[in-house]
Amino acid sequence: MKGLFITFEGIDGCGKSTQCELLRNYLESLGRDFIFVREPGGTVIGEHIREILLDKKNSGMTPRTELLLFEAARAQITDEVIKPALESGKTVICDRFFDSSSAYQGMARGMGMDFVASLNMAATGGLKPDVTFFFDISAEEALARRGKRGEASDRIELAGLKFQEDVREGYLELAKNSDGRIVTLDATLGIEEIFEQIKQTLEGRI
Ligand code: TYD
Repeated sequence: MKGLFITFEGIDGCGKSTQCELLRNYLESLGRDFIFVREPGGTVIGEHIREILLDKKNSGMTPRTELLLFEAARAQITDEVIKPALESGKTVICDRFFDSSSAYQGMARGMGMDFVASLNMAATGGLKPDVTFFFDISAEEALARRGKRGEASDRIELAGLKFQEDVREGYLELAKNSDGRIVTLDATLGIEEIFEQIKQTLEGRI
């Protein structure tokens, strides 16, 4: 793989989408060849799966079904979009990737981090991000931010505060064991300050 693979992670309302946008604009201003994708989704098939996953009507979805649908969408975007882009030398920025399944389904839904890691491996064929930015914030603060934006909750966001706290625990554990792949950022800092840290981390690599 020649291109750099960057992923963004964090609980709902952590502010990562704003930073994704800033990084996209920055790479564009540098004239870099890159693509930006999001999970779940990013392909026609993946967007269909996304609708099923986030639809509030699907309250009967079991944790195993949920996990396998996220992994199915991931398998599709990996093979159809991410791997070919990296092989052609492009930088790939992905808003969420397999760490989301480890934190949300592995930790918060209680499926087990090791179990989810094996499914992540199956879905990606072993592809790993080069750099993952984890936007760390408490569940209360993130909820307050989401409230301010007045966004309608999707099925996952409806799981509540305790769920988001568990997701955060999952991310913190992943970060501890990531051998430096996961860079933890204080998501309560100002937008510009956080973006500076992202630029510094990527300096010389993009
Ligand atoms: P989205 O609207 O994309 O949220 P965000 O802007 O916070 O990324 O919805 C994706 C939701 O799906 C979000 O609540 C996180 C959750 N999710 C999982 O539970 N597992 C996963 O593997 C992925 C990729 C996302």
